[in-house]
Amino acid sequence: MSARLRLGVNIDHVATIRNARGGPHPDPARAAAIAAAAGADGITIHLREDRRHIRDGDLDAIRAASALPINLEMAATEEMTAIAEAYRPHAACIVPERREERTTEGGLNVAGLHNQIAPIVRRLNEAGARVSLFIEPDPVQIAVSEVLGAPVVELHTGRYAELWAEGGLEAAQPELVRLAAAAADARRRGIEPHAGHGLTFENVGPVAAIAELAELNIGHFLMGEAIFIGLDASIREMRRRMDEARA
Ligand code: PXP
Repeated sequence: MSARLRLGVNIDHVATIRNARGGPHPDPARAAAIAAAAGADGITIHLREDRRHIRDGDLDAIRAASALPINLEMAATEEMTAIAEAYRPHAACIVPERREERTTEGGLNVAGLHNQIAPIVRRLNEAGARVSLFIEPDPVQIAVSEVLGAPVVELHTGRYAELWAEGGLEAAQPELVRLAAAAADARRRGIEPHAGHGLTFENVGPVAAIAELAELNIGHFLMGEAIFIGLDASIREMRRRMDEARA
């Protein structure tokens, strides 16, 4: 277990702002370069089926903008699997996607979708991507992730973040316990646990302190905060808080 917790910066919302006007600005590739200079350990991007975040043409530009490993979030579809096979990202994180949702609500039900996901995990593994499954911190989902041969799971922290917003650490404590138990369970099964969704300067500390976690993926808050303090400062402050929680 490594002491350093990696920070994957999700730059999708740079593209969301760009897409609101239809022009080239702001450019997510520029955000990838700034993230690298600010100490990010990876770039996370979600090529959604509706292309509301990054678009196909961004893939190569983002890769060219920094030397950081790319984590491609993707739905479990034939179209996305073929794109990932051609793009060959460092990591591929399979996420649930419903068109009407505003963001990725809830983890992937790998237990219910085993037959759909199994061949995709195999193809992504063969393409050299480190496959990750975005799941709820639930023992059944972790057990099935092991059966599916995923080397990584990303634990959904959305419920934790919601509870935190309602009542701080006290309200979020039961979900924090579930996250810690899930991270330990994943490690026992030889799976590397990551976590993400809804993490902020305020709520990141207790999650970052879970020693079994290897990586956090954070996007929306970092980009929102960048409006006020700049992207470089936003990422550096998140990094500082993660390191402080681990120390
Ligand atoms: N991890 C995964 C798998 C995601 O899909 C997302 C974005 O929905 C995140 C992490 C980052 O979440 P946020 O933008 O809330 O920080």
